[in-house]
Amino acid sequence: MKKIGIFYWPLKGNVERTAEVIAKKFEGYSVEVFSLDKVVAEDLFKFDYLIFGNSTVGASHWEDATDDNKWYLMFHDVEQKNMDFKDKKIALYSLGDQVNYPHNFVDSLQLIYSHFKGMNASIVGRWPNEGYDFKESLALDGNEFVGLVLDLDNQEETLESYTTRWVEMLKKEFV
Ligand SMILES: Cc1cc2nc3c(=O)[nH]c(=O)nc-3n(C[C@H](O)[C@H](O)[C@H](O)COP(=O)(O)O)c2cc1C
Repeated sequence: MKKIGIFYWPLKGNVERTAEVIAKKFEGYSVEVFSLDKVVAEDLFKFDYLIFGNSTVGASHWEDATDDNKWYLMFHDVEQKNMDFKDKKIALYSLGDQVNYPHNFVDSLQLIYSHFKGMNASIVGRWPNEGYDFKESLALDGNEFVGLVLDLDNQEETLESYTTRWVEMLKKEFV
């Protein structure tokens, strides 16, 4: 059976909660969930399909290659070991807040996306931008976000239905 790995950061918030919800919807599949601080590059490559979840929480959490930026540590680890994602299908989900950050809604999703693109990944699971009210987002490509976007601060009720729809889309890709 093909293996699905769900990797997320940060801990203890909406991103972690969403990882668990998504994993449950893959019942019957081989699926495991990890926080990003528990993995090295080799662990990622044990999986056929990878899902990565993040949130936009102030630029310092994702823009700078600091010691506590788990995303950059992971990308650097993959680069240093000369690995890439060319044989992998990757899907991304991202948490944000469209009311308080309407000009930067889920911006960091774009950064994560472009890193994986640069590492030759095939990225699936785009999501329509309907049903949100924001001004600008770097994570848009045309009318679609480059991954599933959730705003649980303002649209808590979307968690179940959006993740159900998204996982059904992914099941068609993950074959
Ligand atoms: C300090 C801070 C900065 C934030 N900046 C943004 C932002 O620029 N864009 C955005 O869409 N959401 C922003 N958010 C909202 C979070 O992404 C949102 O609350 C998310 O659900 C947090 O998930 P987590 O608790 O798992 O990190 C910010 C939240 C905080 C506390």
